[in-house]
Amino acid sequence: MIRPKPTETPETYELEKAAPAGPPLPGKVVVAETADALIDLVAAEMVAQAKGCVRHYGDFQLALSGGTTPQPLYERLMYDPDCRAIPWPRTQLWLVDERAVPLDDKRSNFRLIRETIVEHSGIPKQQVHPIDAQSETADRDYESQLREVLQWRERGEDRLDFVLLGMGSDGHIASLFPFNDVLQETRHLVRRVTASGVEVPQRVTMTFPLINAARMIAVLVTGSAKAAMIKRVATGPESAEVLPIKGIKPVDGELKWFLDAAACGRG
Ligand code: 6PG
Repeated sequence: MIRPKPTETPETYELEKAAPAGPPLPGKVVVAETADALIDLVAAEMVAQAKGCVRHYGDFQLALSGGTTPQPLYERLMYDPDCRAIPWPRTQLWLVDERAVPLDDKRSNFRLIRETIVEHSGIPKQQVHPIDAQSETADRDYESQLREVLQWRERGEDRLDFVLLGMGSDGHIASLFPFNDVLQETRHLVRRVTASGVEVPQRVTMTFPLINAARMIAVLVTGSAKAAMIKRVATGPESAEVLPIKGIKPVDGELKWFLDAAACGRG
C-alpha cells in the first residue's frame, strides 16, 4: 500500500509568484519577508491542496507536526475567513509525532492541535487521530489506524496528502533525531523512539517510508535561530544520519520549503 502516483497540484495561487529566491534546497523553496506573510502562503497551499484532494479523492489526509513554529499557522487556519475554506468535514487529521505524555499535558502535540484546530474547525471527532504515545503498542496501533483509513482510497492513492513538518535546530524533523536507528526504518510507517537530550525522550513518530510517500511535504521554518541549519542543509555534505531532514525525499510527491527571510539568514 501507499504506492504513490504522479502528483497533481490542484490549484495555484498568486502570492507564491512574488516570493523572493531562497537557498538551494531540494524541491521548491517559497520565501516570504516575514513569518506572518509566510503563514499566508502555507495556509493558501494547504487550502488549495485540501480542496483539490477532496475534489479528486473525496477526502483530505492531513498530518500535522507539533512544536512552536506552526502554532500561528494553526491559529490563522481558524480565524482567517480565506482559510476556513478547508473542508474539515472531509479531512482526516493525523499527528506526525507525539511525546509520551498524557494528551492534555502541555508538552503534548495533540493538545496544541486540539486547542487550536480540533475545537474550532468542526472536524468530526472520528476523523481526528491522536497518538496515545504512552501506550506500549502505540506505534502498531497508529500504523493499523493509518492503513485502515488510507485503504478506503484506491490503490496507489492510499497515502497522506499533506504532511507539515517543522525543523529542529539540530536538523531533526518529526521525532526523527540524529543518529537514531529509526532513521534506517524501511518497512514500518510508525515507530516508537527514544531520543537523547530532548524534552520527553520517549516518543512515537511517523517514519521516512510514510512521510516520503506523501503527495506533498511542506517544511515550515522561521526565525534566525534556524538560519545556520538551513544553510547547512542546503550546502553542507552531511548525510541524513547526521541531519535527518536530509532524509526527506518524496518518492513521487512534492517537497516545498516555506522559509521566512530570517531563516534564510537575512533577518
Ligand atoms: C515535536 C515536533 C518536532 C518539531 C521540531 C521543530 O514534537 O517536537 O513535531 O519535529 O517540528 O522540533 O520545533 P519548533 O517548531 O518548536 O522549533
